[in-house]
Amino acid sequence: MTDDDALREIIEGLQQAEKMISPKYFYDERGSQLFDKITQLPEYYPTETELGIMRANIDEFAQLMGPQASLIEFGSGSSRKTRVLLKNLIEQAVYVPVDISEQHLLESARRLRSEFPDLEILPVVADFTRPFELPSPTVMPLRNIVYFPGSTIGNFTHDAAIELLKVMHHGAGNGGAMLIGVDLQKDPNIIERAYNDSAGVTAEFNLNVLRRLNREYDSDFDLDAFTHKARYNSDAGRIEMRLINSCDQIVNVGTEVISITAGEGILTEYSHKYTLDGFAAMAESAGFRVAKVWTDADELFSIQYCVRT
Ligand code: SAH
Ligand code: AVI
Repeated sequence: MTDDDALREIIEGLQQAEKMISPKYFYDERGSQLFDKITQLPEYYPTETELGIMRANIDEFAQLMGPQASLIEFGSGSSRKTRVLLKNLIEQAVYVPVDISEQHLLESARRLRSEFPDLEILPVVADFTRPFELPSPTVMPLRNIVYFPGSTIGNFTHDAAIELLKVMHHGAGNGGAMLIGVDLQKDPNIIERAYNDSAGVTAEFNLNVLRRLNREYDSDFDLDAFTHKARYNSDAGRIEMRLINSCDQIVNVGTEVISITAGEGILTEYSHKYTLDGFAAMAESAGFRVAKVWTDADELFSIQYCVRT
């Protein structure tokens, strides 16, 4: 995706009846660092819960994935969870982390190479919602495992999530599978706290998108006028994150002029929470069957192993 395409996409989003900016624009270097900080917050249960499920079931994961598999990770970030897999998989063939946040991805891959010197690591800088090529490993793996942790799938609408699962289905290829982290519906208070942390890191993460647009996409949002808002929409089963503007402002974005009124919000992220049946139906629409589900004791989060039907 060129900068021109991105600018066009951003402008189109800001011209919608409800203004929106895709959450993929959160992830410049600072955004990736802020996300890492979010994962350490006491209120943000998904990361530690998913890691706990992984540690408790790692031997079973390794058996299911089998030897000499390639691991293709979508939205790999700092690859923190992946390290748990890489230390335990049997004769791991190759690791392909795919991420849009270039500097962060390349630095993570560099660190991983020094930790796993015998593993072939082939990072791909790409927007996985657009067509991209997977690299060819030196040694042919026996099968592909697509890995998609963190419940990043929840950041997509129902239809876009199915489209992305279809891309993963294709990436898994014949005999391949997908291992995916899926956040579950639960007490809305637990969910809302996770996106309204007391240290204000999520607010900073949210606001950083406008800072990035001002720096990289030739815009002049008045940052001080915006505040972070995250609320759980129980009917839709999702967190909705917005930036709420406090005074009328005219914003230049590239060559376009956008007016934003006082009180108006910009939608920056959905984070869907699923029922097990709801996710299974989506996976099925993309050609997967959920073969195994692991959860924590409180059923906050799940990891699901999906095979191609
Ligand atoms: N997998 C990690 C990180 C999740 S954060 C974990 O579970 O903790 C989401 C990651 O997906 C970020 O690193 C972000 O840069 C990446 N990402 C988001 N949208 C993307 C897109 N459209 N294409 C590629 N990477 C994307
Ligand atoms: C990456 N993604 C799954 C995170 C989430 O929980 O939806 C992003 C995030 N947004 C706010 N906090 C974390």
